Amino acid sequence: MQQITRTPAPSEVADEWRKRAERPGLARVMRASQPAELAAETTARTLRLVTGLLRSVGAVDTALEIGCGMGRITPSIAARARTLTAIDMTPRMLALARENCAHLSNVDFRGATVQRLPWKDKRFDVAVCVWVLMHVLDDDEVADACRAIAAAARHLVLIEYEEADIPVGRFSRLRSLEEYLVLLPGARLVERRELRYGGDRSFAALIALDDPR
Ligand SMILES: C[S@@+](CC[C@H](N)C(=O)[O-])C[C@H]1O[C@@H](n2cnc3c(N)ncnc32)[C@H](O)[C@@H]1O
Repeated sequence: MQQITRTPAPSEVADEWRKRAERPGLARVMRASQPAELAAETTARTLRLVTGLLRSVGAVDTALEIGCGMGRITPSIAARARTLTAIDMTPRMLALARENCAHLSNVDFRGATVQRLPWKDKRFDVAVCVWVLMHVLDDDEVADACRAIAAAARHLVLIEYEEADIPVGRFSRLRSLEEYLVLLPGARLVERRELRYGGDRSFAALIALDDPR
């Protein structure tokens, strides 16, 4: 795969995700080069991590999933929240997520980008964002995204690659947890775990977004 590190035009990014949504199964939201069993096993581990970090938040009334993709993680979040709003910028991904989660009555799917979330009132107890921010390459755009998340939610469950031997997408830029903590207004690290697979490492963090400093 040719990896691109310059800031792509919004239309190129939209086109890339539109194409990825046409891949089969989990290859839509994970690397197409890896065996399906590894994708399935890693997904099971990811769901356990998300559920564990959500338990640490306590009772969750309202949750926001950012970049829900095909709805791989949505049911695990919906099981721990009274209501879940799930957003994604790719219409075809949202259509797949709606299909995959048709049995869930407490999830509302909407089209939106993480840079421009339409909520500024900390309305969500927790936001969950798994392998999305690394696809926002531009420094200003990722700062906009972090401000938008902190404006919308009181906690954040964030999973992102910190190390990867093989590029994790045509457009991706790996950042450390510490870099995200600086970008997220009011961020305070509550819990940090790791997800290692296929020689790569992601952090999985619960971050409170309530620090007044
Ligand atoms: C690697 S997939 C991960 C999907 C899901 N979080 C999961 O773990 O299965 C990234 C998803 O984020 C979406 N996405 C990428 N950039 C985004 C942005 N700036 N705003 C909202 N969604 C975005 C893509 O459409 C895609 O569905």
